[in-house]
Amino acid sequence: MQQFEDRVAVVTGAGSGIGLGMARAFAARGMHLMLADMDAGTLDAAVAEFTKDGVRAASMTCDVSRLEEVEALAQATLDTYGGAHVVCNNAGVGIPTSARNMKLADWEWILNVDLWGPIYGVKVFLPLLEAQDEGHINATSSMAGLISSQMMGAYNVAKHGVVALMAAVERELRAKKTNVRASVLCPGPINTNISRNSVTLRPGQAKPKADGDKAGKVAANIQAALEEGMHPNDVGELVAASIAEDKFWILTHPRYAKAVQKQLDALNDDQTLTRA
Ligand SMILES: NC(=O)c1ccc[n+]([C@@H]2O[C@H](COP(=O)([O-])OP(=O)(O)OC[C@H]3O[C@@H](n4cnc5c(N)ncnc54)[C@H](O)[C@@H]3O)[C@@H](O)[C@H]2O)c1
Repeated sequence: MQQFEDRVAVVTGAGSGIGLGMARAFAARGMHLMLADMDAGTLDAAVAEFTKDGVRAASMTCDVSRLEEVEALAQATLDTYGGAHVVCNNAGVGIPTSARNMKLADWEWILNVDLWGPIYGVKVFLPLLEAQDEGHINATSSMAGLISSQMMGAYNVAKHGVVALMAAVERELRAKKTNVRASVLCPGPINTNISRNSVTLRPGQAKPKADGDKAGKVAANIQAALEEGMHPNDVGELVAASIAEDKFWILTHPRYAKAVQKQLDALNDDQTLTRA
């Protein structure tokens, strides 16, 4: 059972959306914050918000796809607070394009941020938590980590990898009988700026190779779903409550898990791939 009061939360992708929502939920539970993001401007605004409310908050610009920057984040956390207790590997990006037409540079970018980011987070932070015999490591996957939709190939691959990574970590921790726990967040649609931020952050920033109108239509559908989505502060509250209860799976929209069940049923019944 993870304690929050006077403990330290490290959140990546904390300048916006779900990461900021998690930071707010941790702050409300008495945690001190180390906020990391690529975007220094949003980090400054977040630190100002928290310090105004009397919360201890520090920040560091950090590209989670670079091991040395994640190592520097851990060092800065130790230098500032002397420890880290809840670590949320949350930074992520995504653009819709068919697996056939996605540029290799985009595959590399999405996998580097969305999958290697959490891998580096585990590599760097898990030993610190284990040395304390206290803490919780979380990573943000997606429903795209449980079901593979069309036009989201690179994102699906990364997010399935994150689920696999965190399940392995949690099983290994349990086998060691430590007090450290792991979990994975699989959100459905959340009302954040991920589409716009991903376009801005995308290396090269050229448009993805056209899939006829398909990528544009998928992007518009995703944007519409996000705008109707859950508020990121509510996701933060759910994550904090789930971590407090040592839950492994954190689902914002549990009803979507039915699609996973449907696929398992088809796997058993006639080995067909369901529509998604
Ligand atoms: N919004 C949704 O509907 C949704 C659904 C499922 C999963 N997710 C996942 O939730 C996580 C958070 O996304 P969000 O929706 O809050 O988006 P967001 O764009 O609002 O926040 C993501 C933050 O990550 C930062 N970031 C991007 N690349 C980075 C890098 N290399 N290093 C450090 N920071 C980086 C961005 O600057 C941004 O502040 C992501 O992993 C995303 O894949 C989001």
